[in-house]
Amino acid sequence: MKAKAIARANIALAKYWGKSDDALNLPAVPSVSLTLDPLITETTVEFDPSLESDVFELDGERARPSELGRVSALLDEVRAAAGVEAHAHVASVNRFPTAAGLASSASGFAALAGAASRAAGLDESKDTISARARRASASAARSIYGGIVELPAGEPGDDALCARPVAGADHWDLRVIVAITATGRKPIGSRAAMGESRRSSPYYAGWVDHAKASAPQITAALMDRDFERLAPLVEQSFFAMHAVGMAGVPSVLYWQPGSVAAIRAVQALRTDGLEVCATMDAGPHVKAICTAAHAGQVRAALADTPGVLDTLEAQIGPGLEVSP
Ligand code: PMV
Repeated sequence: MKAKAIARANIALAKYWGKSDDALNLPAVPSVSLTLDPLITETTVEFDPSLESDVFELDGERARPSELGRVSALLDEVRAAAGVEAHAHVASVNRFPTAAGLASSASGFAALAGAASRAAGLDESKDTISARARRASASAARSIYGGIVELPAGEPGDDALCARPVAGADHWDLRVIVAITATGRKPIGSRAAMGESRRSSPYYAGWVDHAKASAPQITAALMDRDFERLAPLVEQSFFAMHAVGMAGVPSVLYWQPGSVAAIRAVQALRTDGLEVCATMDAGPHVKAICTAAHAGQVRAALADTPGVLDTLEAQIGPGLEVSP
């Protein structure tokens, strides 16, 4: 009744923002991501009949009730599928800063979905595990697979929706340089923020139309390894997503001065001929996507940018790994 799983964060090049079905947590738009090594979460799940409730430890500390609630909801689904009644002890360790826009919810719920399924004795396909991870955090559905991964838009009620791998980790040696521009937790989580966007942003409908058209173009540019086509599409996806949030009431503004400085630094490098473009998630950090040949220069330039506190480098990695 015990298993361990490793899953990695992912970075969306075509962003998911907004839901078509809140109860099933279905995305309103398709998204495309790279699974990132070594941004790893390791999670152990043990079902234990002597426990009176689920226990969730994150980085060695008891998690907050809201975090425990989301973990227990996923465990409830696994218990129902396996006919298990015992509560579980879940221990999760992030090898990178939590809740800072580095998609720790993606690697976290992917690892949890994988470990819980195995610990409960289920022998499930990756698609089934991806769909269950999606219900907890849609971006987590993508971390089940390595390499380049798509999560289609979901029609309301389509509870089997899961991510699908598009190309392996060795398709293209892209690197991601993360420019950390703030410490501590972000002001509002992605789930609440995208709900605000849908309710109150005048740009929401335009965003959904744009994202549906742009995601297949981003996949095609990745398949063709065509950086010149890829870069403006990737930047437009994240600018449009953030513009939707900024124009909501209340406004969702994740950017810090260092975020703007880092975006400008990336764009200046591209003007100078480097293969690099920027993206941001629901947080203040800037992620520079670049070809391996240019990673050193990009990292050095970002490390030198005012407001950038630290940098880290990732490459494309494999999907979920589960062990007994
Ligand atoms: O899956 P969530 O609820 O953590 O939302 C993720 C949303 C973004 O990271 C901003 C975009 C994405 O596609 O990963």
